[in-house]
Amino acid sequence: MEVVLRLAGVKHRFGAVEALRDVDLDLPAGTVTALVGPDGAGKTTLLRVAAGVLAPTAGRVERPAGAGVGYLAGTRSVYPDLTVWENLTFFGSLYGMHGRALAAEARHLLEWAGLEAFRHRQARHLSGGLRQRLALACALIHRPAVALLDEPTTGVDPVARRELWALLDQLAAGGMAVLVATPYMDEASQCRRVGLLHQGRLLAVGHPEELRARVPYRVLLLKADGRPRRQELLRLAREWPGVLEARPAGEGVRVALPAGAPDPDLPPGVRALPAEVELEDVYVWLAGEEESRAAKEGARR
Ligand SMILES: Nc1ncnc2c1ncn2[C@@H]1O[C@H](COP(=O)(O)OP(=O)(O)OP(=O)(O)O)[C@@H](O)[C@H]1O
Ligand SMILES: [Mg+2]
Repeated sequence: MEVVLRLAGVKHRFGAVEALRDVDLDLPAGTVTALVGPDGAGKTTLLRVAAGVLAPTAGRVERPAGAGVGYLAGTRSVYPDLTVWENLTFFGSLYGMHGRALAAEARHLLEWAGLEAFRHRQARHLSGGLRQRLALACALIHRPAVALLDEPTTGVDPVARRELWALLDQLAAGGMAVLVATPYMDEASQCRRVGLLHQGRLLAVGHPEELRARVPYRVLLLKADGRPRRQELLRLAREWPGVLEARPAGEGVRVALPAGAPDPDLPPGVRALPAEVELEDVYVWLAGEEESRAAKEGARR
């Protein structure tokens, strides 16, 4: 697939904070890439640099000539006092669009986003999900080749979230390159391509299956019949030899063990069920690897 946006060796620094460290990322046409990472990981900074809103401290952002960028910032991306239609046409006019071409594109996006019935409604009176769909439509009015979307699903109800993701899949099906920042691992794991961002470093990019296969351990879900309860399960699991991680999950506790380790002995009333390695596990594992690598590097200096 043709790459329509490429970050090469991108760094960004805010004073003492290294918000992006040596980020290499390709965005191919026809693909949705989820950029996932916790608060402060650098998602917004990466999107802003990719959008050209912020110049990188080092490295390059490459785009073929004529490949436009649509950027949807996290908050306040539509004008509450303007109607749905006015928002669309206003954003179009910012890109120098006018007349019939603008009206045709605005009508197309209204229909695409399922907003026709709300055409004359002020944006302030739209539900959160509809407002995000409008914001998305406004970011796409100039038919960009790349869409950079900063947490479009944050604060949106689960049904509206699914609708938004379906719209993003449609964009990719139409040939667009889409990069979506999200703090939600579960959401990201529905994407065919995921980038994991940790303290400004892109730990890995790939299909969730491929990323899960990188984790050299297996996961068990510990459950207690009645007692002992979760705290006790946690304590139990953390004492096992070789245990890599134990954390609460629902009623039970998820435990990561080295791939070859035997099942530990269980006290009566406790069961261990094999569980899937999740994207969250991959993140924790790669972040740990990265931190020990950085610590070693620091010690050598
Ligand atoms: N304008 C700024 N001035 C100084 N530091 C900043 C600025 N913008 C971001 N940072 C810092 O850069 C780092 C990355 O921030 P960024 O907003 O890109 O993360 P994020 O992944 O988008 O987080 P969030 O979940 O909060 O949206 C953080 O440590 C943040 O405090
Ligand atoms: Mg952010």
